[in-house]
Amino acid sequence: MIELRRAAEDDLDWLDGLGRSCFSPPWTRESFAHALSGAGSLVLAALCGGERAGYLVLSHVLDEGSVDSVCTGPEFRRRGVGAALLRAAIEEGRRLSLARITLEVRKSNTAAIALYEKYGFLSLGIRPGYYERPREDAVIMTLELGDAENDNTLC
Ligand SMILES: CC(C)(COP(=O)(O)OP(=O)(O)OC[C@H]1O[C@@H](n2cnc3c(N)ncnc32)[C@H](O)[C@@H]1OP(=O)(O)O)[C@@H](O)C(=O)NCCC(=O)NCCS
Repeated sequence: MIELRRAAEDDLDWLDGLGRSCFSPPWTRESFAHALSGAGSLVLAALCGGERAGYLVLSHVLDEGSVDSVCTGPEFRRRGVGAALLRAAIEEGRRLSLARITLEVRKSNTAAIALYEKYGFLSLGIRPGYYERPREDAVIMTLELGDAENDNTLC
């Protein structure tokens, strides 16, 4: 069973460790600390059988939301953790009356792109050379929250 809760200060080591093991370049510890403390951002932690399994960072400015990072620990993948986190982020976006949620994803990251598409995100375009280590284009994806057709959160 997957449970979600707001991440807290004492999750910082875990967030930092998981982020480092899954991303190149990883988020800095300071970025996680900022997201945990800042107004305008929400860090969600997913628990699988009581163990911390994944996280998602949602931030917003005015009515524009952004999924800044999402990650499931390798041993917990394909069990619905990423989906549960993304659904919760979309619900939070609706609660906050955001117009849309946007994100960037590496062009080669087919797993993440499939996850986002499953929940109604559409590709808006490409940011050439956006990522480093290795250099790669980003696909910009967005979900319009005002559009009832995009309410896939019950899937
Ligand atoms: C992308 C990621 C978050 C998915 O997390 P997850 O917990 O394994 O995802 P879920 O089990 O909830 O899968 C939900 C849907 O995503 C898609 N998906 C997830 N992993 C996939 C894979 N390896 N291949 C194809 N589709 C995949 C599927 O549509 C899946 O639905 P299904 O199981 O009904 O087919 C995870 O692979 C991850 O952490 N990757 C490394 C970090 C990363 O790339 N983050 C995104 C940065 S933009």
